[in-house]
Amino acid sequence: MQLILLGLPGVGKGTQAKVLASHLGLLHISTGDMFRDAAEKKTSLGLSAQEFMSKGQLVPDEVTINMLLERISENDAQKGIMLDGFPRTIPQAKALDEALKNRNSPIDAVLYIKVPEVELLARLTGRWTCSECGEIYHTQTNPPKKEELCDLCDGVLSQRADDQPDTVSDRLNANREWTEQLVTYYEDFSKLHSIDGTGEMEEITERLISVIEMVSAER
Ligand code: AP5
Ligand code: MG
Ligand code: ZN
Repeated sequence: MQLILLGLPGVGKGTQAKVLASHLGLLHISTGDMFRDAAEKKTSLGLSAQEFMSKGQLVPDEVTINMLLERISENDAQKGIMLDGFPRTIPQAKALDEALKNRNSPIDAVLYIKVPEVELLARLTGRWTCSECGEIYHTQTNPPKKEELCDLCDGVLSQRADDQPDTVSDRLNANREWTEQLVTYYEDFSKLHSIDGTGEMEEITERLISVIEMVSAER
């Protein structure tokens, strides 16, 4: 299957993608994680992406599209993909459609996770991420067992630079309109499924799985 997780910053795309991709045997691809890895390695792609990310802006389409198309052409992406944070603009969606058409594996479903914006600020400013394995925590809703250490690998937890309140609001502004346009775009292809992203994480996983099972049965 080829699935997209769509939604504003903080709706739980990364949290859910980790669980679902391993449950379904899909490759989890997060363009945000790819940019952060590249920035940490100080590659030229990473350094130029970081300039946009630190201001809460989108990285230009050309750079993002090339990076993503290259990634999905690799061997491990042929088993099926779960995209997290891509596409984020209409040109990105069109480039993806074109690439998937060429390999005869179109998008099966777009899972649009919705959470009221008032909750997103609290989610993002309380987020801590494992610097080793990428596991996602929250100081209130999903705290690690040991303070500032990952439950899974004992790695040190850190806060993302773009999770400061000011940058969070810039990120929401940069994404809001495009998200609405993508919703319309995928509705037109009858691929869009809206999912309530509020409540317990496990409950949301179940909601997503039931939609995916329905889509899979209709294939
Ligand atoms: P990216 O890393 O994708 O960030 P984002 O879209 O802003 O989304 P987040 O990762 O912040 O949120 P999430 O939905 O994954 O939520 P999470 O599961 O962590 O992108 C970063 C930047 O890279 C962009 O700003 C842009 O500059 C650039 N970029 C990336 N892709 C791009 C593209 N395609 N085009 C252009 N630029 C691009 O959850 C958040 C918190 O909430 C966590 O603490 C979690 O524990 C908690 N939480 C999760 N679920 C629940 C729940 N049910 N109840 C309570 N708390 C919960
Ligand atoms: Mg994420
Ligand atoms: Zn870890």
